[in-house]
Amino acid sequence: MSDRLFIFDTTLRDGEQVPGCQLNTVEKIEVAKALENLGVDVIEAGFPVSSPGDFNSVVEISKAVTWPTICALTRAVENDIRVAADALKYAKHPRIHTGIGTSDPHIRYKFNSNREEIIERAVRAVSYAKKFVEDVQFYAEDAGRTDNEYLARVIEAVIKAGATVVNIPDTTGYCMPWEFGEKIKYLMEHVDGIDRVTIATHCHNDLGMATANTVAGIANGARQAEVTINGIGERAGNTALEEVVMTFRSHRELGIDTNINATKITSTSRMVSSLMNMPVQPNKAIVGRNAFAHSSGIHQDGVLKNRESYEIIDPRDVGIDENSIVLTARSGRAALKHRLHVLGIELTSEQLDKAYEEFLRLADRKKEINDDDVLMLAGQHRKATSRIKLDFLQVTSGVGLHSVASVGLDIAGEKFEACASGNGPVDAAISAIKIIIRRKMLVKEFLIQAINKGSNDIGKVHMTVEHDGASYYGFSANTDIVAASAEAFIDAINKFVR
Ligand code: KIV
Ligand code: ZN
Repeated sequence: MSDRLFIFDTTLRDGEQVPGCQLNTVEKIEVAKALENLGVDVIEAGFPVSSPGDFNSVVEISKAVTWPTICALTRAVENDIRVAADALKYAKHPRIHTGIGTSDPHIRYKFNSNREEIIERAVRAVSYAKKFVEDVQFYAEDAGRTDNEYLARVIEAVIKAGATVVNIPDTTGYCMPWEFGEKIKYLMEHVDGIDRVTIATHCHNDLGMATANTVAGIANGARQAEVTINGIGERAGNTALEEVVMTFRSHRELGIDTNINATKITSTSRMVSSLMNMPVQPNKAIVGRNAFAHSSGIHQDGVLKNRESYEIIDPRDVGIDENSIVLTARSGRAALKHRLHVLGIELTSEQLDKAYEEFLRLADRKKEINDDDVLMLAGQHRKATSRIKLDFLQVTSGVGLHSVASVGLDIAGEKFEACASGNGPVDAAISAIKIIIRRKMLVKEFLIQAINKGSNDIGKVHMTVEHDGASYYGFSANTDIVAASAEAFIDAINKFVR
């Protein structure tokens, strides 16, 4: 019988903090439902005091999700805690996650305080949160760089105040795996009452050791792993859910298991990547496009003779459907609907009609439509509701020619046209759009990425546009990369032009 490891997913909080990964409430509900189907125990749904949007998402996710615990983040501040409790009022299993920095740099520079005062504030926050909910999780921010003896005193005090879960974050991703394991072991051995609570790990990946640190923490007694899908999160990200789950599934001798239905890992990963416009690196463990691809002749030969020669995980165990259907121009609406369903996406009948129209247009240009293309099509319905739309785009460019673009925009139903030249077709198209929009805008980042391979492939464009001191993220995908670039620029503009 394995020991149960609780999976606390923070894709919608730590993951969503990443610039460009912001989701609207409907999309967050979609992700929360996928996480529920995946079998996560706790969903951290947001930081309600940070914005009305975050507050509303926690309310709506609480209503939409049935069995996982819904958690809301706060600082050790009474108003944060009151607002979080209010946002959680519809949750069937609510949890407040409150905490404070405990490392010397945090105490000194962030709070201009001292160790004793921090303990008092931590205890006050937990006691206050207990007035609203039974389940209170405490985080000791930057625990990775906190002196163990002092950390033990903080933890003991918050347990006495009623904390049910204690989170030990390696906020800066600084710890070595043995050091983080030792930290958990020290707490298990020196904190009075630690057997009454669950100890959690929350590791960041700044040195690429988030999963190793999480596994070390669990090997030493932690029983909740805080993770995100695809490892997204602040800076270099958080521990990836799929890596932790499959580490314990692959190493049964460790006697630890989770409630995760691993066959849903691939579809959840793709859904999050698609909704957040955050590509998964091809060599990413478990969910990267190349994670199960054997390219060298020696490896291919070995796998054909016996899969286990080079594969430690059967791809089917994480939901890779080897017989995945490739759709073509002859595929019907039902086939597209089925493929979307397999990928975890349900569209309304109207959205499906639009996606099917786009699908037929794409299938005309590209013979085979794969899962990445289908996910891209599913994301198109978000564009249909935008205020500014690209009506038409014509570019002339070539070697020895000056690039010129004519652009037509539809702004809330009104038509505008402009023409401009540039030092390439993308520059010309963007200059023409700027003539119509007439705001100060600067393209800060511009990334073009092919989804798969082949000259008829779809190009994905990620763009960051600076306007009025703030950065706005835009995305589009199109077989015409100049059109994709213009659309990504318009997508970013839609975020600040109302
Ligand atoms: O990394 C961190 O310390 C956090 C806390 C808010 C839990 O995200
Ligand atoms: Zn974090």
